[in-house]
Amino acid sequence: MKKFFAVALAAAMTASLAACGSSTTETTIAAAETEAAESTEETEGVEAVQTVTPGKLTVATSPDFAPYEFYAIDENGEPHLAGFDMSLAQYIADYMGLELEVIPMDFDGTIMELSQGNVDLGMAGYSPSPDREDIMDFSDIYISGGQSFVCLKDNADKFASLEDTNKAEYTIGAQTGSIQADLAKRNSPDADIIEMAKVTDIIAELLAGKMDGAYIETMVAESYAKNYPELDIVLDVPYEAVGSVIGVNKGNAALLETVNAAIKECKDSGEFDNYVFEANELASGDIVEGLIEDDAAAAETEAADAETAETEAEETKAE
Ligand code: ARG
Repeated sequence: MKKFFAVALAAAMTASLAACGSSTTETTIAAAETEAAESTEETEGVEAVQTVTPGKLTVATSPDFAPYEFYAIDENGEPHLAGFDMSLAQYIADYMGLELEVIPMDFDGTIMELSQGNVDLGMAGYSPSPDREDIMDFSDIYISGGQSFVCLKDNADKFASLEDTNKAEYTIGAQTGSIQADLAKRNSPDADIIEMAKVTDIIAELLAGKMDGAYIETMVAESYAKNYPELDIVLDVPYEAVGSVIGVNKGNAALLETVNAAIKECKDSGEFDNYVFEANELASGDIVEGLIEDDAAAAETEAADAETAETEAEETKAE
C-alpha cells in the first residue's frame, strides 16, 4: 500500500514537472523541443521505478571474485571495492539517477538477501541457473564466461579428464551456494567436497596444499592464476548456462527493464569493455586475499546491518 502511494505521488510530480517544461519549450526551436520531450520521457520512465530504499539503488555483492568484484588496495594501503560488476553497478545507479549503496557479504548471503527482497540487485557474477529462477529475475547476460577445474601445477598431471577428479582420496573445493558447488557434486561425487563461503579462502587452501582441486569460474581462475603462478587451470568444465547476469528483485518489471536498458547502453558505448580492462589491471596489482579481507568486509557489513536495522525500525514505526 505504502509503495503504491509513493509511486502515484512520483508520477503526479513528474506530470506537473512536464507541464512546466512544455511552457518553456514553446519559446525554443523545434529541435530543442523534441530533445526536451524525449529526455522528459526517459526521466519519467526511470523515476517510476521502485527501489527498496527510495532514492537509492541497493546492491548486494560478494567481493571474493576478481575481476568481477574484489578488494583492491589503494595508494594509502586501504582496501576498497573494485571490479567490473562494481563499475557497472555505478553505471546503472547513475543511469537511474540514484545513489548507489553496495553491501558486501558472502555469496550465499547475496542470494538470500535478494530472495527476501531486501536489496534491489545482486551483482556477484551470477550464472542464470534454473534453480534461482523462482527467487530472482535475471537481467540479460552482460559478460560471457565458463567453468574450470583448478589445482596446483605440481598436481596437474593427475587430472587429465573430469573423471580423474572423482576419487575418494581427493578433497575438492567450491563456493557455498554457487553453481560450482553443483558442478563438484555432479562431476566429483566420490570426492570429499568442501564448500567455503569465499573463493579467496578456496585459493588459500589450494595454495596451502590442503585441497587437491577446486571448481572456479574460468575468468576468476585466470585472474588468481596470474597472481599465483603455482595454480594451474587444468580442465574446462561444461555447464549449461554460459555467461553472467544481474539478479533483480523478483517481480519488479520496471527495474528489470531499466537494468537491461542500462546494460545495453553501457555495452554498446564500449564503456563496459573499459571496466573489464580496468578491473583486470587492478586485480593483477595488490588485492586483499583470504582472511585479511574479513576486517574490511565485517566493518562494511556491520555498517550496512546497522543501516538495515535503522530502516526496519523506521518501517515498523511507520506501519
Ligand atoms: N557464477 C557462479 C554462480 O552463479 C559463481 C558466482 C560467485 N560470485 C562471487 N562473487 N563469489 O553460482
